[in-house]
Amino acid sequence: MSVNKEELFDKVVNLSKRRGFVFQSAEIYGGFRSTYDYGPVGVLLLRNVKEQWWRSMVQFRQDVVGLDAAILSPPSIWEASGHLTNFTDPLVDCRECGSRFRQDKLEDPNSCPSCGAKSSFTEARQFNLMFKTNAGPVIDSAAEVYLRPETAQGMFTNFTNVLNTSRKKPPFGIAQIGKSFRNEITPGNFVFRTREFEQMEMEYFVPPADSDTWFEYWCKERLDWYLNLGIREDSLRLRVHDPDELSHYSRATSDIEFSFPWGWDELEGIANRTDYDLNQHAQASGNKLEYNDSGTGERYVPHVIEPAAGATRTAMAFLMDAYEEEEVNGEVRNLLKLDHRLSPYKVAVLPLSKKDELIQPSKEVLDLVQPHWMCDYDQTQAIGRRYRRQDEIGTPYCVTIDFETLEDKAVTVRERDSMEQDRVSIKELVEYLSSRLIP
Ligand code: GAP
Repeated sequence: MSVNKEELFDKVVNLSKRRGFVFQSAEIYGGFRSTYDYGPVGVLLLRNVKEQWWRSMVQFRQDVVGLDAAILSPPSIWEASGHLTNFTDPLVDCRECGSRFRQDKLEDPNSCPSCGAKSSFTEARQFNLMFKTNAGPVIDSAAEVYLRPETAQGMFTNFTNVLNTSRKKPPFGIAQIGKSFRNEITPGNFVFRTREFEQMEMEYFVPPADSDTWFEYWCKERLDWYLNLGIREDSLRLRVHDPDELSHYSRATSDIEFSFPWGWDELEGIANRTDYDLNQHAQASGNKLEYNDSGTGERYVPHVIEPAAGATRTAMAFLMDAYEEEEVNGEVRNLLKLDHRLSPYKVAVLPLSKKDELIQPSKEVLDLVQPHWMCDYDQTQAIGRRYRRQDEIGTPYCVTIDFETLEDKAVTVRERDSMEQDRVSIKELVEYLSSRLIP
């Protein structure tokens, strides 16, 4: 049963709350707009998205190393990067109802989407998206610091530290996952655009002459990452930026876009940032940021290819793409057909009944399996309803312990998508699951 696009958004938002993926932040105080908390299964999904990114970008590569830089940063970084001047959105107010909008996101620039008034907008003013705060007890301009609006700059400012300690040479990359903060004028579409979010970014430093080739390489590599994790091919596209869309630092940018219920929108941007950032920081800090090949004596400022993805936004895309409804025996089965690697729980251990004689062996099965995979254990309700609960959060395998288990020392393993069941001896259970659950 296909779910139509208009309904999909509400269904996924509803599922997120009902099953513990995402909650409105500060809900008991009426909710804090545009901030979200990740619940018991949401935090697992988000961790798995980040883990898969880290595996493909760092663990499986010898040319990329990791970093975890600070969130609080001095104005000097953002002055050099250009964010203090350029990281702005055009803000307009409606004179009739006082609502505020990003001018470039208005469908009709002469009509207020809140009250419908015509030609009621003020002149656009450039609004800087960075959050400013104070470090230390004295509140004056010398104590001003910023919450980073992207993770990227920490990788540029640590370029020499990483180069010296990792003994890498171009082409090589620095990867980082972490929170970023933007005072978005119009946050919205659930966790798509929020003021606090997580990014997964990598700065790949290359010899200048090779930058176009590496740009193409990373566009393909990153598109394949989503496809490999199960996003449907027709839900994804690569969109090349027009010259007038390019950021102040970019020579070329392509976006990986996902077909969201409201249309195509960005999941990740891949940019050729040239030597802009290293040069800016070198100039502002007075420290040379270049590569010096001691063998050949060659010295140059590398160019940078940056694949920059949003972890929270990507988790939402995986949820939307995986959501399905099926009719089974006249009832609707809600299903998250997530790739196993992203599923919050890989295995659910379910005693058929709450009777004492099944609880002990069920706990023993749980003890056997949970050192290997994230497991859920559930002994409430009828077994059919428990299967449906697990289907709805994307658990690929349910292991049921029944009264026969006491005799044959075997369990029933049910696969999520096909609902097929195998009888597997407890002794062989870990091996059975290992051959099906790729890390
Ligand atoms: N360093 C380059 C950079 O930050 P970006 O396109 O502004 O580029 C990269 O951000 C990714 O971060 C976006 O493609 C998106 O997935 C995510 N992102 C950006 N702003 C976001 C927001 N307000 N809420 C959620 N995710 C956001």
